[in-house]
Amino acid sequence: MHSDELVPPEIKTKREFWTHVATQLEHLLTGQRNWVTNTSSASSLIYHSLQAFPRYFGTDENKAVNWVGVYVHSKYFPPSSDDGPPENRLLLGPFCGKPACMLINATITPTRPNPGVCADGFIHAKSLLVPDVEQYPGHIACSALTKSEIVCPLFNGTTPVGVLDLDCLALGGFDQEDLSGLERCATLISQACDWKTLSTD
Ligand code: SME
Repeated sequence: MHSDELVPPEIKTKREFWTHVATQLEHLLTGQRNWVTNTSSASSLIYHSLQAFPRYFGTDENKAVNWVGVYVHSKYFPPSSDDGPPENRLLLGPFCGKPACMLINATITPTRPNPGVCADGFIHAKSLLVPDVEQYPGHIACSALTKSEIVCPLFNGTTPVGVLDLDCLALGGFDQEDLSGLERCATLISQACDWKTLSTD
């Protein structure tokens, strides 16, 4: 794929935009099963396509998407010496944007009922559209500039393996059409990857 013109000028509506992104994504991920490679490409494609769609997002500081990436359960990463106790830990995976929170504890306990947007999306295996992050209980702020967020779970079959996460600089920056488009992308990513557990937890 030639990535110089990610969004052709004839694309005007969000429906056309997300269909175009899904088609590009499908081509991009064909022939590759490694989740690190595929989520790297997917994050870049989605992030730069959104930047190339100024009608709704673009690079404008009032409405740009400032972060696109994945958090994946630690058991899909190579084991490391600081793995800690076996629990649901989401580790930062490939992303586009500024450095973000690297570890998210995706366990709900009586003392920690609200683990954040990514953890909730992962634990409950459902997409979350958050129009105002400040109103979301437990929201983890990776950037003070982020105003809204979308999370879509990634699956190995029916088992959640992680989440696709997007942050936007606009309040209410995403709508249901974005959610549908991103769920389509998350399904393509999920199905394009082999999710093999490497560590023991
Ligand atoms: N806001 C997320 C954390 C990840 S960053 O947005 C990149 C959360 O509440 O889980």
